[in-house]
Amino acid sequence: MLKLIKHLKPFIWSLVAIFALLFVQAMTDLALPGYMANIVNIGIQANGIENAVPEAIRSSEYDKLALFMSESDKSEVGTEYLKLDRQALSESDYTRYVAEYPYLANEPLYKLNTSDAAEVEKLNTIFLMPEFIVTMIEQKGSAIFEGTGIVVPEGIDPFTLIAQMTPEQIAAMSSTSNTSIASLPANIISQTSTVYLTKEYKVIGIDLVGIQSGYILRVGGVMLLITLLGAACSVAVGFLAARVAAGLARNLRKQIFERVEAFSNTEFDRFSTASLITRSTNDITQVQMLLVMLFRIVFYAPILGIGGIIKVIGSEASMSWIIAAAVMAILTMIGVMLIIAIPKFKIIQKLVDKVNLVMREILSGLMVIRAFNTQKHEEKKFDVANQDLTRVNLFINRIVVLLMPMMMLIMNVVMITIVWVGAYQVDAGKVQVGDMMAFMQYAMQIIMSFLMVSMVFIMLPRAIVSVQRINEVLDTEPVIRDPKEPQQFKGALKGQVEFKNVSFRYPNAEDDVLKNITFTVKPGQTTAIIGSTGSGKTTLIDLIPRFFDVTGGSLLVDGIDVRKVTQHDLREKIGYVAQKTLLFSGTIASNIRYANEKATDKDLEKFAATAQALDFIKDSGKGLKTVVAQGGANLSGGQKQRLSIARALAKSPEVYIFDDSFSSLDYTTDAALRRALRRETNNATVLIITQRISTIIGSDQIVVLDHGEIVGIGKHKELLESCEVYREIAQSQLTKEELAQ
Ligand SMILES: Nc1ncnc2c1ncn2[C@@H]1O[C@H](COP(=O)(O)OP(=O)(O)OP(=O)(O)O)[C@@H](O)[C@H]1O
Ligand SMILES: [Mg+2]
Repeated sequence: MLKLIKHLKPFIWSLVAIFALLFVQAMTDLALPGYMANIVNIGIQANGIENAVPEAIRSSEYDKLALFMSESDKSEVGTEYLKLDRQALSESDYTRYVAEYPYLANEPLYKLNTSDAAEVEKLNTIFLMPEFIVTMIEQKGSAIFEGTGIVVPEGIDPFTLIAQMTPEQIAAMSSTSNTSIASLPANIISQTSTVYLTKEYKVIGIDLVGIQSGYILRVGGVMLLITLLGAACSVAVGFLAARVAAGLARNLRKQIFERVEAFSNTEFDRFSTASLITRSTNDITQVQMLLVMLFRIVFYAPILGIGGIIKVIGSEASMSWIIAAAVMAILTMIGVMLIIAIPKFKIIQKLVDKVNLVMREILSGLMVIRAFNTQKHEEKKFDVANQDLTRVNLFINRIVVLLMPMMMLIMNVVMITIVWVGAYQVDAGKVQVGDMMAFMQYAMQIIMSFLMVSMVFIMLPRAIVSVQRINEVLDTEPVIRDPKEPQQFKGALKGQVEFKNVSFRYPNAEDDVLKNITFTVKPGQTTAIIGSTGSGKTTLIDLIPRFFDVTGGSLLVDGIDVRKVTQHDLREKIGYVAQKTLLFSGTIASNIRYANEKATDKDLEKFAATAQALDFIKDSGKGLKTVVAQGGANLSGGQKQRLSIARALAKSPEVYIFDDSFSSLDYTTDAALRRALRRETNNATVLIITQRISTIIGSDQIVVLDHGEIVGIGKHKELLESCEVYREIAQSQLTKEELAQ
């Protein structure tokens, strides 16, 4: 997992942007419930009246409220209100004000003359209590004086009485009522003040519907903007996350590809081709998916969750225990699920590997399968792998599917509980309906964030396995490496290959395949290697381009140990025709040109002619443009061999290596090819492996291999006399007359 972070380095700025955007998105999500609560509490329930400060008030009411204000409060209010009096106003002002406040025609009004938020807030605290008290008095009438010893005469307005009291008396009276008021929830007082103001505005004739819809539209508009901002962030995050994840996947694929290119057979044996393919496709896709989730969910959920918790703690509704219980329930559920599912997730990638392996083998061996009529057997093999994968996949999916309804159940139980408990609290005046609704939304957000994180935890094990599998490939250092300080070929020698007491053992094998091999291959000469199958011929020449490193002795090319030069320099010198010919999909021209990009069509024809390939190329109608299928499947064995010889020729190397490259040719073509080759390769070193004596009779040097050891070196004639093994091979292939020659 830490390794993954290293790969993320190139995307650091995108990551920062993602983080910032997610933060903004979370903030927008967290802000919405608060606005919704305002719409319900103020917009709907309080007719859009936001605070206790009257926008306009009759002068008679103003006087009533003033009775319950301290002197300093009174002067504070006085400076912020403008008295609208018919006599004092100009005619035009008067008509304008009357349109807005029709009651001005009957009585002077006071109008709020400030919009400064701090000032309004100060006025709000001043007005709250008087408005509450006045409302109470109006509801209860003379009963308000109960317990104060004051007897209100019949038919006398309580306010007239209070107006005649001294400030001390009023203070004494309101303090007794204040003590009982203080125990009331703040909500009740503010709600009472809105009731007071609504009544007052109605009397004055202020457009209440206008205030209400104005408020709702304003808050709704803000909510809409916030939502749009959140949506924009979300889209941007999605965009960036997809880019980063896809970019990282691309980098990983590239790295794996480059690494695998440097692999020798030792590493291929370790990983198997099928597994390498799964690793560079399926595993990388897993990582890519994980990253997108990480960016969109794992980063997001904690911000949302923590933000939600902060909001809940700050809110008036004290139902946090419901959320805590729900989160516990979810964690338990996910925990149980993880314990069951994680082991299965680990298996899945291995099973995918297996399906790929079986599939690959079947596909590449289809001909053999048909020839032996073993389709049923192979089907069974595939079925087993396929079924295994299906079973595990289904198991996991069932668990994940189960998750959804259980989550919904928990969610719904939480909602019901909140409504249930919240209803009592609303009834008691502790919270308002809007707050309860907001609480529900925050609860939802918190639970959701836990849910998202736990979902990721379910996905994580599988992705971690994938990350590990990818890293395994990336961390594998190829056995064959370039030296730190490579030497250059610069001597006069061109194309000399020297085996000095070389021995070789395949990795994990028990015995040496080659023992004490010592001989020199000289430029301008043809050296042949002959020996029974399995005697180690291919192994021997595979050491020259460093497909493997010798395990004993040393191998020199142009006087320098092959391990002391770069693989690139070394292989530049070598034209290699493998025993198992391999062509690439494309055309004949593209295949020959593979060795030398600059070759013109004329050159290509020359090489093809030397390789005796021109005839069949011309016969095929399209000439050099003839299409070659993958692996050269649309060509015959001999045609493929000749094309790969032409490809080696196109490189004009110093050392030619032909590993049994004439085996599929008929004798006439074989002879013609060798004649042409001799002309073409006169200064170069030629190494020919063959089973045919006739191919090598004229060679300058023949090396006879038997069980990995040299049992004879020399020319044809000498070997016939001195080497038992060679004589046996010769006798089996040549007539008496030929032998006698
Ligand atoms: N990759 C490998 N891992 C382990 N052993 C191998 C590997 N390749 C070849 N061998 C073993 O090395 C020995 C020599 O194989 P090699 O391919 O060199 O024979 P050869 O002389 O080229 O045979 P042929 O004439 O059939 O091509 C064989 O016994 C073979 O089992
Ligand atoms: Mg071989």
